[in-house]
Amino acid sequence: MATILLTGATGYIASHTWLELLAAGYDVVGLDDFSNSSPEVLNRLARLSGRAPVFERANVCDAAAVDAVFARHRVDAVVHFAALKSVGESTQQPLRYYANNVGGLLTLCTAMRAHGVNRIVFSSSATVYGKPETLPIREDAATGATNPYGETKLVGEKILRDVCAAEAGWQAGILRYFNPVGAHESGRLGEDPRGVPNNLMPYVAQVAVGRRARLSVFGDDYDTPDGTGVRDYIHVVDLALGHVAALRRLLATPGSLLVNLGTGRGYSVLELIAAYEKASARAVPYDIVARRPGDIDSCYADPALAHAELGWQATRGLDAMCADSWRWQSLNPHGFDAA
Ligand SMILES: NC(=O)c1ccc[n+]([C@@H]2O[C@H](COP(=O)([O-])OP(=O)(O)OC[C@H]3O[C@@H](n4cnc5c(N)ncnc54)[C@H](O)[C@@H]3O)[C@@H](O)[C@H]2O)c1
Repeated sequence: MATILLTGATGYIASHTWLELLAAGYDVVGLDDFSNSSPEVLNRLARLSGRAPVFERANVCDAAAVDAVFARHRVDAVVHFAALKSVGESTQQPLRYYANNVGGLLTLCTAMRAHGVNRIVFSSSATVYGKPETLPIREDAATGATNPYGETKLVGEKILRDVCAAEAGWQAGILRYFNPVGAHESGRLGEDPRGVPNNLMPYVAQVAVGRRARLSVFGDDYDTPDGTGVRDYIHVVDLALGHVAALRRLLATPGSLLVNLGTGRGYSVLELIAAYEKASARAVPYDIVARRPGDIDSCYADPALAHAELGWQATRGLDAMCADSWRWQSLNPHGFDAA
């Protein structure tokens, strides 16, 4: 079976993908610098998979370190998750975001090329669609980033398209994620944001568990059924399985790939809160506050291309997303490091 190098391997989405790759029979080498994750993730992965994780602590921008990883391991394909991901932070620290996200991809591709590895799956984002003109969003919709983080994803996609056009044999799987949420159903692996969560579900989870008093809902006058923003939430295990399907496709068939990974169904903030209250049997008190600049009414995927190209579709609904998130949050109220 093929060996897959995962960058950003101890992060939220990669750690779930690591487990699903092992379950599908792949060997995995993980790489991370723990800048936004905990070494405890490796202990959890060992217990859940029954295998000792093969792991390299390295910064993906460090050319010598990345080169050494390729020299030590036979790698058949790479899944590149390592990136900084806060939209707000990216507007204050654009150089750091470009250096890490674009610089990391360049360093990685250069090392891949030197070692004859030419298949890569890239974590892109629905944020590349900016303010969508039509819904659901298809892959051929116009793109346009509204912040440096989104720009790093658009530039990353472009770099990969150019490399694939220039170099025979290169294949890229560009995956545009919608809103990943939820956790592994064991409750032992999940999202553990540092500081104040940027995303809705981890914030709701921390209110439900009593770590935060109240949630702020940004605007209830959007053009949506209940006035709050509508997003396409996707269970992180469905997303992980999308990566397994993309790798399988790249390893079996020539050519590149660009697909949305979403469910095709949108839920409003108030619907998500109600589902979370039901799953947790806890109240989630909230206040309606002003809109956040840059937020849009609705965003949800057309997932048909991923289904056609990969035979993949999301199967876990909002209740499972909330139940699994709550299991993780209630078993690990302070995340990995308080374990
Ligand atoms: N979570 C989302 O809402 C979302 C949505 C769309 C796209 N994405 C993308 O998916 C990927 C994974 O996101 P996530 O939510 O799992 O984030 P995460 O922060 O949990 O995981 C990213 C991991 O990369 C590591 N990392 C960052 N820079 C690194 C570097 N220079 N060298 C080595 N390791 C480094 C971090 O330590 C972390 O473990 C990112 O590329 C992100 O932009 C995330």
